[in-house]
Amino acid sequence: MPFFCFPKLKFLLFKQQADRRRIEGVKLVREVGRIKVDFKPINLQEKLGKFTDHWSPKIIAQINDYHLRIVKLQGDFIWHMHDDTDEMFLAIDGEMEIVFRDGKVVLKPGELFVVPKGVEHKPFAKNECNVLLFEPAGTINTGDVGGEMTAEEDIWI
Ligand code: NI
Repeated sequence: MPFFCFPKLKFLLFKQQADRRRIEGVKLVREVGRIKVDFKPINLQEKLGKFTDHWSPKIIAQINDYHLRIVKLQGDFIWHMHDDTDEMFLAIDGEMEIVFRDGKVVLKPGELFVVPKGVEHKPFAKNECNVLLFEPAGTINTGDVGGEMTAEEDIWI
């Protein structure tokens, strides 16, 4: 009996191919025919030690269609918004602000905030602050505005 007569196997093969297509060009975690598991935790401090540039998020993990990214903030970013997605900021160390047209949020280490989609915001950090971002893969840091502060969005570290 050919393999495609087994619905579950057929489904698994289809799912693996879909997974592969989805993450191709980003990082291949699942491979057709098997699941490749890397039995190592992701250490935030170790990852933060791998770069020094500001306002340039680096991907450390993928969860379904979302990326976990870390970024070092210092100084002022630009006003922007994301038309299609909410955006989560979690301060790892240091202190940051998310400034809105009608208010602001101060984040201390261990605190997080979700900026709703379509709401203009401007991140700011007086002193360097390390931040974890959770947002859909491909989210552009400058949102609808673009410009010279736009970072490459697919750098894994
Ligand atoms: Ni944003």
